[in-house]
Amino acid sequence: MAIIFNEKDKIFNIQTKNSSLVFGIYKDKLPVMLHYGKRLKDTYDIKKTLDFTMVKGTAHNAVLKDFDNEFSTEIVSTLYPTYGNTDLRNPAISIVQNNGTMCSSFYYKSHKIIKGKNKIEGLPQTYVQDGDNVESLELCLYDDIDNIELILNYSAFYDYDIITQSVKVINKSDKEIKIDRIMSASVDLKHKNLDFIHLQGAWCHECHIQRVPVMTGGMTIDSKRGCSSPNHNPFFALADKCANEDMGEVYGFNLIYSGNFVAGVEVDSIKTTRAYIGINPFNFGWTLEAGESFTTPEAMMNYSCEGLGKMSDNFHKIIRKRICRGKYRDIRRPLLLNNWEATYFDFDEEKLLKIAKKAKETGIELFVLDDGWFGKRNTDNCSLGDWYVNKEKLPSGIDGLAKKVNDLGLKFGLWFEPETICVDSDLYRAHPDWCIHIEGRPQNECRNELLLDLSRDEVCDYVIDIMSKNLSEANISYVKWDMNRSMSDIGSCGFAPERQCEIAHRYILGLYRIMDTLTKKFPDVLFEGCASGGARFDAGILYYFPQIWTSDCSDAVERMFIQHGASLVYPTSAMSAHVSASPNHQVKRSVSMKTRGNVAMCGTFGYELDLNKLTEEEMEEVNNQIKIYEDVVNITQQGTMYRLLSPYEQSYVAWEYVSEDEQKVVVMLGIVLRQGGIRWDTTKLILKGLDKDADYVLENTGEVYSGDFLMNFGLYKQLYQDFDTELLIFKKVK
Ligand code: DGJ
Repeated sequence: MAIIFNEKDKIFNIQTKNSSLVFGIYKDKLPVMLHYGKRLKDTYDIKKTLDFTMVKGTAHNAVLKDFDNEFSTEIVSTLYPTYGNTDLRNPAISIVQNNGTMCSSFYYKSHKIIKGKNKIEGLPQTYVQDGDNVESLELCLYDDIDNIELILNYSAFYDYDIITQSVKVINKSDKEIKIDRIMSASVDLKHKNLDFIHLQGAWCHECHIQRVPVMTGGMTIDSKRGCSSPNHNPFFALADKCANEDMGEVYGFNLIYSGNFVAGVEVDSIKTTRAYIGINPFNFGWTLEAGESFTTPEAMMNYSCEGLGKMSDNFHKIIRKRICRGKYRDIRRPLLLNNWEATYFDFDEEKLLKIAKKAKETGIELFVLDDGWFGKRNTDNCSLGDWYVNKEKLPSGIDGLAKKVNDLGLKFGLWFEPETICVDSDLYRAHPDWCIHIEGRPQNECRNELLLDLSRDEVCDYVIDIMSKNLSEANISYVKWDMNRSMSDIGSCGFAPERQCEIAHRYILGLYRIMDTLTKKFPDVLFEGCASGGARFDAGILYYFPQIWTSDCSDAVERMFIQHGASLVYPTSAMSAHVSASPNHQVKRSVSMKTRGNVAMCGTFGYELDLNKLTEEEMEEVNNQIKIYEDVVNITQQGTMYRLLSPYEQSYVAWEYVSEDEQKVVVMLGIVLRQGGIRWDTTKLILKGLDKDADYVLENTGEVYSGDFLMNFGLYKQLYQDFDTELLIFKKVK
């Protein structure tokens, strides 16, 4: 059982294998947060300490009239805090009532516990498959002063150790109200002195780990860019000071959403830590007419008492198996070559086919044509929106090119940027009002482009039609779905002034409808997400597309940091990674072919260069890489990942993958900068997740080691040169 209701004491215990979220209904009315952390077997003893929990406020705290002035919700933690009503910390929800004020009091009305989980309409989400041990609680609360219903939906994915939450507001009154702030999850923790861990960065520098002590007052990360953003990922963890990869308590939070978000903590003067995550209230407001409802994106809560490693493993498994969907969820993704860094806009059919031919000879399975094939696009200043082929470059059309690529024995993939529009395009000339803009204000461009107004149904329908047409007219097996600008100057001529604060979220809902329709219509196409690299690397996109171009930076050394950071939350199978030319085009760093391959193999692997330009030696290395890749792909994509050494902490990086059947183990060891002056810059590679009673042969050398030795003593390793790497493959022998 995953959700237990102690009827006598009115206490709910939402359980997973190792965690419990416990709350009670105080005096049959007020949902009070009691515990989130280690799994509690039962809740019968809680009542004995409840008086202590319901501690009175000080002279400075307002007290609740509804409860005979017994306590303040500033001291007592409510399950889903509202604004006012004696709690003056960051609320989970604030609603502008019809009389212009902003107070709510939601009290218990009813609840339902169901097996499995109900679908959330129009949003990405976790899902349940037959045989899963998942239960859901629908907790219905009611504000009978303003007649608003609030439904808190919790699902306990018992075996995945994840609790999800989404929230629905229903306006049951006959008057209009406006949601001003609505978090997907908010929990009060009694833990003190936690560290705040998050993934921050920039374009070409995404997902860098930052760990800082939480300060009294609190801290926030967010995105106001219309996408989840390269600056902050919609994830954070709160960790015990002593928590590391293997031990200590960690609370991880992730929002299954691709738009503006806020996530953070507030630590009050009695050191209660309130953690929250949801749609960013900045430039957000949602009007609900009488009878209308609003549902938030879903959040995942992930408690681990075995450090960050276990938190990541929980996230990897649920994202890979119960968020990602479709044909490619569990199967090996095709090995691809993308022409972007090989040619940029400068290509014609002959050049492309020459690259594709060489790719085929090397064992590559899919050739991807990137930007520049449509309209009159020879640079990035025009034609987005004009999704018809440029016959000057490609005289036999996309259809003809796809056939020629297929004839070489390769599948064919194509790049699109369906959400954007250039002012210099036929689409803009026909529909100048179809972009996100504010009437009378300048239309500020980013990379010479504007965003299509996906808050409007007719614009979404157009995108669905034009994409369907392209995908039906040629044999396209893969789509790279790019998006290269942040949302700014937000306005839509499809909506009234009082609805303009809904546009950023409506855009994302429109985008999800498009993605849902197209992925259902073309189930055999492998879609890869991309937003100037990793500007929309989130679990929302992964519900539709099983992999995302992790970063526009393809430099293997930068990627050691990016992929290490991203792995805090996202599985290897989600991280697209390519071998590109050296010196690297983004950072000008020269890195060996071996290292470029080893790092890219720890993602969904591919190449992004002209193989014809490689030296014989480099080609030999590529051929060798492809053989190794065949050997390791199922282990890295579907196995359990362990971070052994962090490049954020010292000069080495090491990632280990144990196959699902536990028979094979792959370790990627790399060095960033060799430290000067340290004669023995040696590291110890201590493996994890092995069978201590078994032996493992290191296939690279034939040496046999016991699992016990590898996990408890470890291998001494030394890499001599900056950026060097080694890929070790072990096989269990007995
Ligand atoms: C940005 C992407 O991230 C790149 O990989 C490439 O597709 C370019 N856009 C094309 O314009």
